[in-house]
Amino acid sequence: MKMWSGRFSQSPDAEFEQWQRSFPFDRVLLPYEVVGSKAHVAALAKAGVLNGDELAAVQFALDQIAREGVPSTEDAAIEDVHHYVEKRLAVLAGEVGYKVHTGRSRNEQIATDLRLYVREQIDEVTHLLADFVSAFVKQAEAAGDGAMPAYTHLQRAEPVLVAHWLLAYVEMFLRDMDRLADCRKRLNVCPLGSGAIAGTILPLDRVAMAAELQFDAPTANSMDATSDRDFAIEFAQALSFVALHLSRWAEEFILFCTTEFGFVKLPEAYSTGSSAMPQKKNPDALELIRGKAGKIFAEAAALFVGVKGLPLAYNKDLQETQQPIFSVVQQVSSTIRVATGFMTTVEFNYAHMQQTASGGFMNAQAAAAYLVKLGVPFRKAHELIGKAVRLCVERGCELEQLSKEDYAFCGIAADELFYHALTLDEVLAIHNVQGGTAPARVREALQTAKEKLSQYFGVAHACT
Ligand code: ARG
Repeated sequence: MKMWSGRFSQSPDAEFEQWQRSFPFDRVLLPYEVVGSKAHVAALAKAGVLNGDELAAVQFALDQIAREGVPSTEDAAIEDVHHYVEKRLAVLAGEVGYKVHTGRSRNEQIATDLRLYVREQIDEVTHLLADFVSAFVKQAEAAGDGAMPAYTHLQRAEPVLVAHWLLAYVEMFLRDMDRLADCRKRLNVCPLGSGAIAGTILPLDRVAMAAELQFDAPTANSMDATSDRDFAIEFAQALSFVALHLSRWAEEFILFCTTEFGFVKLPEAYSTGSSAMPQKKNPDALELIRGKAGKIFAEAAALFVGVKGLPLAYNKDLQETQQPIFSVVQQVSSTIRVATGFMTTVEFNYAHMQQTASGGFMNAQAAAAYLVKLGVPFRKAHELIGKAVRLCVERGCELEQLSKEDYAFCGIAADELFYHALTLDEVLAIHNVQGGTAPARVREALQTAKEKLSQYFGVAHACT
């Protein structure tokens, strides 16, 4: 039996009928549809619509439906997940099953199911991200005081600690976790009791239904509640940020595992070979991670655009928002898992990073800073050191290899302390501000990151 056939004298066009069904994809919402229905039937009983026996019968049947799970064979007569549960209830509980839809609408049900689904996925993705971030923190810890070059414009800029570089990614992904937590706060209100558009016609206890489903409160307006998908859009946008950050990370690692950079040893477990060139080991995992970002952004955009221009309240267009949500979360979750495996396995070529951290005039700013300490105005110091760099470029040497006489020629009084200021350790140490790469500051940052992470893991799992 359809959920709405009474006023129709004609059956729907067969092709249209199949085409408009959402059960092929909204069946994943079955667990949420069941718990939402359980909250609703409890409220129905309180309102006197179901007696004690009837309540027990439908609750028992709903539990049975949850246990059975999503049916493996597709029944083409089922319109959507709500229809499925109603039909199954009638089979399992008899006629009383048809009482369950009293005082409710599929419009509030789908809004509730999706909120419950997204909320669970937020928790799951947050957990996956915590594991991923923890892999960065462990690598940062293992890197100790090892140094590497850092780049602006992809040109060598200044040396940093390897740990400082890794902690930059920790910041990005911690922000993503924060964004998800923020989205969860706004999402966590319960549409049940909103009816089709104007609010339910029965005195249902909305506060009790919200509490049963661990929502903070009932939604404030029935028209908004039945048509709002902001929570899903926000979620998809938050996941787009994750994908954005993953793609930046993947790109940098692709570069750093080239022979030209040679900082990252590409793990075989996350690479493939070439069918033509026997020597090849390709960073496919990283490339696919970079590539997936485009698809994820596109689906998040589809969701956003899908809601554009919809008048209040429910419109069937909203059914089209479901698949992008499912797809984005599936892609992002699986990508984080692969990325975590990569980050846990990857090894760095510390010796080469350390060696590269010292060349290429990356101590030039520190040299200028030393002159500034002697009272030379920075612009003048910049000019003088720039001149010394030019001399080095002509000679094919580094700043620390110029003699005192060479410096005198450039207008610089170079003493022992000046040469000391050019050493890698000193260059690193002068970046002694919060958020800077001086080793003591990086150790502090590492500690802070571990503390933030431990909130997600609890004491037992906090990384040591
Ligand atoms: N399958 C529908 C959806 O996903 C459920 C809501 C249907 N509501 C309606 N008034 N036709 O949006």
